Amino acid sequence: MMKNLLVTGGCGFIGVNFIRQLLEETPDFTGRIINVDVLTYAGNPLSLADLEARFPDRYVFIKADIGDRAAMAAALDAYRVDAVCHFAAESHVDRSIVRPDAFIQTNIVGTHVLLELFRARREKIRRFHHISTDEVFGSLGPSGAFTEETPYAPNSPYSASKAASDHLVRAYHATYGLPVTISNCSNNYGPYQFPEKLISLMILNALEGKPLPMYGDGLNVRDWLYVGDHARAIWTILARGVEGRTYNVGGRTELPNLEVVRMIADQLDQLAGPLPGGRPRRELITFVKDRPGHDRRYAIDCTRIERELGWRPRESFATGLNRTIRWYLDHREWVEQVRSGEYQQWIREHYG
Ligand code: NAD
Ligand code: TYD
Repeated sequence: MMKNLLVTGGCGFIGVNFIRQLLEETPDFTGRIINVDVLTYAGNPLSLADLEARFPDRYVFIKADIGDRAAMAAALDAYRVDAVCHFAAESHVDRSIVRPDAFIQTNIVGTHVLLELFRARREKIRRFHHISTDEVFGSLGPSGAFTEETPYAPNSPYSASKAASDHLVRAYHATYGLPVTISNCSNNYGPYQFPEKLISLMILNALEGKPLPMYGDGLNVRDWLYVGDHARAIWTILARGVEGRTYNVGGRTELPNLEVVRMIADQLDQLAGPLPGGRPRRELITFVKDRPGHDRRYAIDCTRIERELGWRPRESFATGLNRTIRWYLDHREWVEQVRSGEYQQWIREHYG
């Protein structure tokens, strides 16, 4: 059983949920977490600020770039790391279309730096789990779902950079026999998501009576998974996944964007009351220019992880969405921090 788990990108959306779940709700995990994050706009250390005091022997935070070979080597050695869970990435498709450079640097070069350090410590590091996306498989027509055998066909700079990193991880297993696992997951939603992705953005815009921008005809389909279910899948793979294997993770919850946004608008009308003048929030939906290269449909066949590792999503979309909306209503302070970049000042004061 792993004693010192290095998590990269642990101050981002999925990393925060994963680290909290491991320390707060996973009795099988008794080790220490070393969270390495460079704190881009998407990483907020305040999301985990309570953990250093609550788990002084089990949680450590290091501000470092995964592309910084010396800093990463020092972290791996100083904390006697025996397993790695690699989340750190640039993660937003729209940003990758405007400025792909950081995606190439972090997602491809950064992953390669970690793999090289891993190769030099192969006797010490027993597992490297790489977190990836279903977007590497490209776009589906109206039927079918991605399996682990679906050929890669990424369409955005984001998905192309993730595909490249997946190939490197796979190649380090095939070439050097390193003990890796990979997971390709569908769209996540839940607490602590930076408000630029569909669900988090729409919740806040709808709450504030701002327009809800629907790309194209609003009929692009995504397969939604509650972030806590994804975190549990990652822990399941780390604990019991087979070396060299890839696992698809998904929610079997395919929905067109328009339907998702209507559900958010309706739930907010109920939870927060209608807008001034009694206007229903659905009226905020505004069709805008489509995203270039916009993938039409994603759907994941997650039979392998269900059959081989016994993982299943627990949250339905209705309950998961309700929890998520309530979380954003109850955490306005967190929202203001990440929107204003206010925590950047805190980072400068604490980490220089
Ligand atoms: P996020 O953008 O919320 O967080 C990314 C984190 O990585 C941030 O804390 C950021 O500061 C950190 N980071 C970025 N560059 C770094 C670098 N060079 N060195 C160290 N840290 C760095 O992303 P997320 O939504 O939590 O996604 C995490 C992982 O899961 C990514 O690899 C992403 O591709 C994958 N994924 C995400 C989804 C989704 O729906 N969000 C779905 C499938 C897979
Ligand atoms: P997003 O959350 O960016 O995830 P991804 O592109 O990685 O799937 O977008 C989810 C879907 O929602 C995608 O089809 C694009 C669409 N979308 C909008 O229609 N409006 C928006 O403002 C955003 C951010 C996304």
